Amino acid sequence: MEHFEPSRRFGRLPRQLFAALIAATEARRAAGHDVINLGQGNPVDPTPEHIVRAMQEAVANPVYQRYIPFDGLPAFKEAAARWWGRRYGVDVDPATEVAVMIGVKVGLVEMSLLVANPGDKVAVPDPGYPDYWSGIALAGAELVPIPLRPERDYYPDWDALPRDVKLVFLNYPHNPTGQVATPAVFEQAVAYARRTGAVLVHDLAYGDIMFDGRPSLSFLATPGAKDVGLEFVSLSKSYNMAGWRIGMAAGNREVIHALEVLQDHLHCSQFGAIQIASIAALDSPPEVTERVARTYQERRDVFIGALDAVGWHIPPAAGGIFLWCPVPGGGDGEAFANFLLERADVVTAPGRGFGEEGRRFIRVALTQPTDRIAEAARRIARVLPEWLDLVARDPRAMMPKDVPAHSTSAR
Ligand SMILES: Cc1ncc(COP(=O)(O)O)c(C=O)c1O
Repeated sequence: MEHFEPSRRFGRLPRQLFAALIAATEARRAAGHDVINLGQGNPVDPTPEHIVRAMQEAVANPVYQRYIPFDGLPAFKEAAARWWGRRYGVDVDPATEVAVMIGVKVGLVEMSLLVANPGDKVAVPDPGYPDYWSGIALAGAELVPIPLRPERDYYPDWDALPRDVKLVFLNYPHNPTGQVATPAVFEQAVAYARRTGAVLVHDLAYGDIMFDGRPSLSFLATPGAKDVGLEFVSLSKSYNMAGWRIGMAAGNREVIHALEVLQDHLHCSQFGAIQIASIAALDSPPEVTERVARTYQERRDVFIGALDAVGWHIPPAAGGIFLWCPVPGGGDGEAFANFLLERADVVTAPGRGFGEEGRRFIRVALTQPTDRIAEAARRIARVLPEWLDLVARDPRAMMPKDVPAHSTSAR
């Protein structure tokens, strides 16, 4: 082989915008800078002790050192069904309506492979979580953005969406805007799916992280939801288990069955001990996730408060772990993110990494300890006048560039 020529399928994968940012961050760290990373949604807080203990016990059990059923442990599926019932009053059958996965990301990518033929349309929130794009690219499907704009409270305009879409992804609490669902949004989603025959996927990655006393909503609590789709739930943020790689889906039994058949060909479920420890997570008393939500709310308020005081007004997220920040002075998100790295040693994610609609935003992840979030806000406040001066002096240089957003992605 003179030169490795990857498949066309591989070639369609979006370039990761974060790769460049990580490289720049590491270069600054290596040069001795104290860099604060608010770029990635990777919580630094530890997994609760009772979950770690359950894992320690399970890992020593020879039963889980062997292959387990390829569609997951029945005990995990029962815990998942209990969780949907207790948390949302939703009734799901653990044997036929629940699937296990190696982190929700994998399941979301698999959904495009499962539903879309080459050329089929798959709709994703814009801005939105870019890993949906990966499955669409692998399936050779066509990505249709669902623009989510502040003037519509970051909710879809269903009438503007083509009627021949095969698969729709929704996600509330929303990465990156922090908007949360209403029953009406889910009812409209079910109505759209009924009208068009589309499969609807709701990604509930941040369901436990709701602010200011707002109630958490499950898509599956919407009448008719199980007829049209699935809901995916990640344990990564609710229990600080991002590295454990465990997630679950529930809903339409035909889709669940097909997802499990596909998984049987791709991987053999998640390590049984992780599933056992995850039962301990799902059965945790509510205080465990309430504490996590309180921590993120406190960090949100610290960050927003400090910047409000110097005239940068960031809308408070209603849920999730991110702030969606309009670039001060109306400049470009990528230019601003680069500026913050160079002048304040603070890493943020340029909004363009989440879709076309994100060009004039940056995303701040509240995943560092509160004192570091406060320090990041202080540093940004200090350099803000310099940025505003740059935008005022050379507005064109600070405006978004004309590069298609869906060819690059951040997380
Ligand atoms: C909206 C959304 N869905 C899914 C995921 C991935 O979750 P998991 O860690 O379970 O793969 C993330 C993680 O950042 C996310 O933001």
